Amino acid sequence: MFENFAGGKSGLFFLVFGMVTAVLVGVSVAVVFYVADIALEDPDEIIVDDAASPIYVNFQPEPEAVVSEDAYLAMGQYQAEFPMPQNVVVLQGQTTVEIIGYMLNHFSGGLGVNCSHCHTLENFAADEWDDPVGMRNKMVARQHLVMTGEINQNWLEYDQLVNLTNLKQPSGSVMACATCHNGQAQPVAWSASLDALPDDFRLPLDATFSVTEPGILNVNARDDEISLETVQYNQYVMYHMNDSLGVGCTHCHNSRYFPSYEGVPAKNYSLHMLQMSAFINENYSKYIGGQQPSCSLCHNGQVIPYGAAINDSVLPPHLRSNPPEGLSIEELGLDASMYERYTEHDLSADNPFYNQEAVSEGDADATDDDASVGMGG
Ligand code: HEC
Ligand code: HEC
Ligand code: HEC
Ligand code: HEC
Repeated sequence: MFENFAGGKSGLFFLVFGMVTAVLVGVSVAVVFYVADIALEDPDEIIVDDAASPIYVNFQPEPEAVVSEDAYLAMGQYQAEFPMPQNVVVLQGQTTVEIIGYMLNHFSGGLGVNCSHCHTLENFAADEWDDPVGMRNKMVARQHLVMTGEINQNWLEYDQLVNLTNLKQPSGSVMACATCHNGQAQPVAWSASLDALPDDFRLPLDATFSVTEPGILNVNARDDEISLETVQYNQYVMYHMNDSLGVGCTHCHNSRYFPSYEGVPAKNYSLHMLQMSAFINENYSKYIGGQQPSCSLCHNGQVIPYGAAINDSVLPPHLRSNPPEGLSIEELGLDASMYERYTEHDLSADNPFYNQEAVSEGDADATDDDASVGMGG
């Protein structure tokens, strides 16, 4: 009994001790979660989804969900018959197997479509068959290949970004199809939240930006000449940036002095990105259905766009921001006047992307071997 009582006493002690410990543990766990919560709210923190693909920033391509069985069968037969491609304009020098790997992860995976969205399964080299929509899609895809490579090479080259500011290293991520497409066949440049805003939220894409003399967006009263209207317009542009990147003003500004570029690497980046957007608008707007680029076209509410290629090495050489010697888009020697000639998904032989000549040659070769055209059905 006595022993029991003593046991009860120490039992009581342990009970109290246990309760105090539980409360302390509970409080510290709560503190940890609270702090973690604050940390997670920090827009600079890139939360990498474990399930994400190793080739994309937070994007998981799912070709197996969209590529049909007959397409898998056709690609197997095609690669056996043609170890080297017959009709590529941009992806030159790659083997058929390499191209198919890229098509699976970047084209079908990036756009969420079957191969037959852009090909006849009878012959992957064909630019012409009995499906005008598929033919147009293939032509647009070829143009978007060029566009992706040019954005990377003209605007996202590592050395260029590293020189923007000594406060931040570039992430190394570059453009892929999925950066704009995000698993959609027809992406929209303006997110729903931007669409709800007045037109004035559009970017000043006609302005001539100068890296050496920034100051297009004089929002404050630095210059007496600036009208209230201009100030308001520029504020709207700032909201556009907030919304597109999912950040607050201080991500890009030293809140004590907005004109300053000191200590805020994102502001230097943003000016560069504004110039890049103006470039896209001028050169590629007609290739993206006449849409005007916005910051959210790529960023979609994230600081580092989801669906960006994790680095150059996951892209075919011609698309890399830092292509091997002799393999840049420019060095492919595609006619610069192609921009002028392109209208409304032009499917005529005048369109240099429509490589009819190469197809006939390829077919002729195939016919020699095998008396059939291309895949031979
Ligand atoms: C969004 C459109 C699109 C989709 C989807 C697509 N491709 Fe392609 N594919 C193209 C374009 C454009 C080219 C030509 C690239 C060039 O000119 O450099 C091409 C080229 C090819 C070639 C090289 C053919 C040759 O010999 O010239 C093969 C093989 C190929 N694709 C297979 C596939 C497979 C397999 C799939 C499905 C997993 C697929 N593609 C999905 C647009 C697409
Ligand atoms: C800078 C952003 C951007 C990039 C990068 C990009 N696209 Fe696009 N793409 C768009 C937009 C925006 C549209 C919608 C155009 C429209 O509404 O007509 C589009 C439309 C298309 C279409 C036409 C789809 C249809 O159903 O009409 C194809 C095909 C296509 N893209 C393929 C590609 C491929 C393949 C790549 C990668 C090599 C790529 N795109 C990279 C922005 C982009
Ligand atoms: C994603 C980056 C980014 C975000 C977010 C952003 N800004 Fe800006 N802001 C810029 C850039 C870049 C410029 C300068 C453009 C130039 O020099 O032409 C600028 C210019 C300004 C200026 C003009 C300074 C001057 O040089 O006279 C003011 C004021 C300003 N922003 C206020 C804001 C406010 C307020 C917010 C939040 C509502 C905001 N910004 C959000 C990037 C950003
Ligand atoms: C064509 C696609 C594209 C468009 C349009 C675009 N960006 Fe970016 N942006 C990127 C990519 C890709 C990166 C990653 C670059 C890196 O880190 O190497 C990036 C990085 C950035 C960064 C640096 C990220 C950080 O840590 O803060 C800022 C800031 C930024 N963009 C602002 C903007 C603003 C503002 C606009 C609109 C004026 C814009 N971007 C439009 C593709 C785009």
